Amino acid sequence: MLQGKVYGVYFSPTGGTRAYVTALAGLLSCEAEEIDLTAREERARDHVFGPEDLVILGAPVYAGRLPQLEGGIFERLRGDGTPAVFNVSYGNRAFEDALLEEQDICQAHGFHGIAAGAWIAPHTFSGRIGSGRPDGTDLEKVREFAAGVRALLERPDWRSCRLTVPGDRPYRPARRVEVYPAGDESCTRCMACVSRCPAGAIPPESPRSTDTGRCISCLACVKSCPAGARAVAGPAFPKMVEGLEGRLLSPRREPELYYGR
Ligand SMILES: Cc1cc2nc3c(=O)[nH]c(=O)nc-3n(C[C@H](O)[C@H](O)[C@H](O)COP(=O)(O)O)c2cc1C
Repeated sequence: MLQGKVYGVYFSPTGGTRAYVTALAGLLSCEAEEIDLTAREERARDHVFGPEDLVILGAPVYAGRLPQLEGGIFERLRGDGTPAVFNVSYGNRAFEDALLEEQDICQAHGFHGIAAGAWIAPHTFSGRIGSGRPDGTDLEKVREFAAGVRALLERPDWRSCRLTVPGDRPYRPARRVEVYPAGDESCTRCMACVSRCPAGAIPPESPRSTDTGRCISCLACVKSCPAGARAVAGPAFPKMVEGLEGRLLSPRREPELYYGR
């Protein structure tokens, strides 16, 4: 295969995307290196890859697009004809333009897309949707994908392959989901949420509050608060979750894999 390193590079506020990217990268090399772009410091840094490296990328789907963060997710990555495998994880609804957006951004930064996968993970807003995924069937698909990627890279002409993924240009408009968590009086000011927030939306001087202009509604703060002090207040959120569960608990969606030709 290639002479360089394998990297698993992901943005994953609640771990669903990470599970797929690291499983795939780990199957492609037992020395795969992780780069966690959920951390703002990592997104602010340049990450440079060579033509002999293999980069497995991943991000979640938010309203059919990539999460819209100031400065972007993949914008500081630099490839040099570096083969890349694009991945998205989504909450059993649809991935729409997100995989295409990821491919477009990364290819504009010097990566050569050879394969792509759309995977199902627990929905950020309800662990009942996509519960337990990736499960055994998903992981079998990850193994199949790793074997497919290896086989592609063994072809002498892989550098001239072209990857086509679903999605439309122009992409659907980015839509904010008005779900904003906040802390209550049980907040101990431990700052776990401040450091875990990928969007810099929790001011360290008042960690119970949320800058709604920056918040991407990923709920990393809710899930990482050791005191259980952060939640989305009000009756609208449980109603929305009920609606999502009504529509998305079934049918079960299956992973979709794409290879360059
Ligand atoms: C703001 C927001 C919008 C979302 N939009 C979609 C969507 O359009 N389609 C879908 O199937 N899941 C959607 N989800 C669910 C996530 O894509 C899914 O839970 C993903 O696996 C989370 O990735 P992570 O665990 O790596 O953070 C959305 C989640 C959030 C927070």
